[in-house]
Amino acid sequence: MRSAYPAGRPYTPLYAAPVVSSDGPYAGSEQLWSAALQRARLHFVSGKGGTGKSTVASALALAIASSGKRVLLVEVEGRAGIAATFEIPDLPTSETKIATAEAGGAVYALSMDVETTFLDYLKTNYGMGFAGYALRRIGAIDFATTLAPGLKDILITGKLMECTQRRIDGAYVYDAVVVDAPPTGRIGKFLDVTRAMHDIAKAGPVSGQAERVVNLLHSPDTVVHLVTLLESLPVQESAEAAAELRELDLEVGALIVNRALPRYLPDDLVGPVADGRIDAAAVREQFTAAGLQVDDDGFAGLLTETIDYARTLGGQEQARTDLDRIAPDRPVLELPLLPDGVDLSGIYELADILTKAGA
Ligand SMILES: Nc1ncnc2c1ncn2[C@@H]1O[C@H](COP(=O)(O)OP(=O)(O)OP(=O)(O)O)[C@@H](O)[C@H]1O
Ligand SMILES: [Mg+2]
Repeated sequence: MRSAYPAGRPYTPLYAAPVVSSDGPYAGSEQLWSAALQRARLHFVSGKGGTGKSTVASALALAIASSGKRVLLVEVEGRAGIAATFEIPDLPTSETKIATAEAGGAVYALSMDVETTFLDYLKTNYGMGFAGYALRRIGAIDFATTLAPGLKDILITGKLMECTQRRIDGAYVYDAVVVDAPPTGRIGKFLDVTRAMHDIAKAGPVSGQAERVVNLLHSPDTVVHLVTLLESLPVQESAEAAAELRELDLEVGALIVNRALPRYLPDDLVGPVADGRIDAAAVREQFTAAGLQVDDDGFAGLLTETIDYARTLGGQEQARTDLDRIAPDRPVLELPLLPDGVDLSGIYELADILTKAGA
């Protein structure tokens, strides 16, 4: 199958060199989102399980909507991550507005389950309305997707394409589609529609659709962002995913660090404090000078906590260095650990950081 965008892409590089400022307690993310990333219309958000894919996808959707755009936020694995984030009981299986943003922007949400998507597909391509539902009744849909596992991914990516490219009166219905995508372990397979095609019939509408999906996934319209934590395992998984995506000629978007610890210690103190080298008497004096009364046990506890914190910071610094090696030409954005977890206001807080970064 030919792709419209073969290896050695005919378009210019997506990103300007990343600029990470270290103003404030968080590594900054000023204007990292390049013009090319802003032009992308289909954003996949992947990452190791539990790193914050659903959270980041939700925040990214809000960030893009805040410039007056209509954004569709899609969950493809029915894990209820987005519903939890937006504090709604269930994610709708039809496109439903769940948030409004400034300048007329809005976020619509959709939970894409394979059954509904398959029925949709049968109806559109074969005019099988009622008959399709009968297939569901007899379990034929389950059977078909079990028989050809690749079919499931093709149906889902096909539906994502339809949402991304849908137009009314020539204008796109959605300016952007943000997908809470499968984790890094499965993202390559999920997006490798060419391989999935080998699973299923070579002819017919599925095949024609798959070719158009391949073209979209390999076009500058599509990017795959990777969420990671500043810990060795998630960073390693991101490295593997980035390599796999590159191998498949899919565009890695931003590397989004989630739950970064705020930096309360100056850089030059992190190493010594992590090694337990603290001038306790001097700190004690500063406490007294500041009018802080702490008993000996309390003070010892604070010192231990500070040492632990410095060790974590040191580990994060190492992870940052490793992360820079994964895709040196990709922007690295950092989102802070929100101390009270992510509620609805937390999502807006994270979205605001992404907006400031240019998303
Ligand atoms: N920046 C943050 N600060 C604090 N808590 C966070 C942050 N980001 C995510 N969390 C919390 O971490 C947990 C995991 O986040 P989330 O559900 O987004 O991860 P996920 O990668 O989608 O997980 P899964 O692999 O299970 O789908 C959630 O409880 C979420 O509220
Ligand atoms: Mg999730």
